[in-house]
Amino acid sequence: MNGYPSGFTLLLRLAFLAVILSGILLVPNALDMRLGWSVPWSLSSGARTWFVSSHAASYYLCLLLVGALWTVHMRAGWLRRENIISGMALISALALLALSGLLLYYAGEDNVVNAAVLAHIGVGLLLPTILMAHIFGARRAKARAVRPTMS
Ligand code: HEM
Ligand code: HEM
Repeated sequence: MNGYPSGFTLLLRLAFLAVILSGILLVPNALDMRLGWSVPWSLSSGARTWFVSSHAASYYLCLLLVGALWTVHMRAGWLRRENIISGMALISALALLALSGLLLYYAGEDNVVNAAVLAHIGVGLLLPTILMAHIFGARRAKARAVRPTMS
């Protein structure tokens, strides 16, 4: 990733991996506790506390790193008109996750909380696909950039 310290892309990918894995493991508990669905398996309450904390730590890190992408990475992609659709999908998904995550804890009305839980889980489960589409799009953009021109 141009313009960032070495190790930045690895840290970004690890932060996304952690938020996705912790989020997926929390899904059964959220369906059971918040929506009252019966689920075949869920984390014990001690393990849930650990994964909720890991989820929070990793989404702090993701949002912090995405803030750093704003100034260089996104502006460069925008100016070159590369990888824009999946980039915008990523930004929209993260905005929805951050908003629904807040509503999930702080909305007063039950129906808003229920909608927030479903939206959060739905968008959360789509996040890996959007991220992979963006990374494959980046590879295609790189291949186009190095392809020699015929004269
Ligand atoms: C949440 C926001 C975003 C994240 C987390 C993100 C993440 C990434 C990652 C992990 C790569 C692959 C880097 C590599 O394998 O070396 C990449 C590449 C790329 N992204 Fe994004 N991106 C975001 C938003 C955007 C937006 C909005 C645009 C365009 C306006 C964009 C344009 C590009 C381009 C052109 C590449 C290929 C060239 C490069 O690596 O710099 N990205 N992005
Ligand atoms: C960067 C992206 C994400 C952000 C900003 C985010 C934000 C949040 C927030 C603010 C909460 C509320 C409670 C807390 O602080 O733990 C939460 C809970 C939760 N998140 Fe995420 N999240 C993200 C990604 C994901 C993903 C990818 C999934 C996977 C499906 C997911 C699944 C969950 C679940 C199931 C809960 C409910 C935990 C409970 O029962 O209290 N999240 N998230």
